[in-house]
Amino acid sequence: MIQLSRFILMLLMSQSILAAQTIDPQSGLIIDSGFTVVKKQCSVCHSPQLIIQNKASYQGWLATLNWMQENQGMQSLNQQTETLILNYLAKNYAPEQTGRRKPLVVEQWKKLTP
Ligand code: HEC
Repeated sequence: MIQLSRFILMLLMSQSILAAQTIDPQSGLIIDSGFTVVKKQCSVCHSPQLIIQNKASYQGWLATLNWMQENQGMQSLNQQTETLILNYLAKNYAPEQTGRRKPLVVEQWKKLTP
């Protein structure tokens, strides 16, 4: 009986983790803290798909935001809204951990005999 309730608890916990990654069907954006502000502010000029297709760090998103403000006539935001948006983007559209594979370890070189 204890085993079963533990299993059910684990199931519930894993579902709440999955629920944290819910996608808004209308915009395709991940629903998380700051989502409504991002949806409102960032789909005025273009599809939110542009966000989904991009990945960047906090600084990278800040640069994109500033670029749109300086070149595309995007309104300036108050500090609180800007931080909310950037935190949302940096968390949910962060760069993936990519990089070179680890170098191969050669344990024994083959001797070439001429
Ligand atoms: C005032 C209009 C406007 C608003 C508001 C706006 N953008 Fe943009 N954004 C643009 C334009 C114009 C482009 C260039 C589109 C293109 O290249 O087709 C662009 C491009 C982008 C790109 C692609 C950049 C690249 O390097 O290719 C991303 C990502 C982006 N916007 C994210 C956002 C986010 C996040 C927000 C909300 C914080 C936002 N946009 C709000 C006008 C806007």
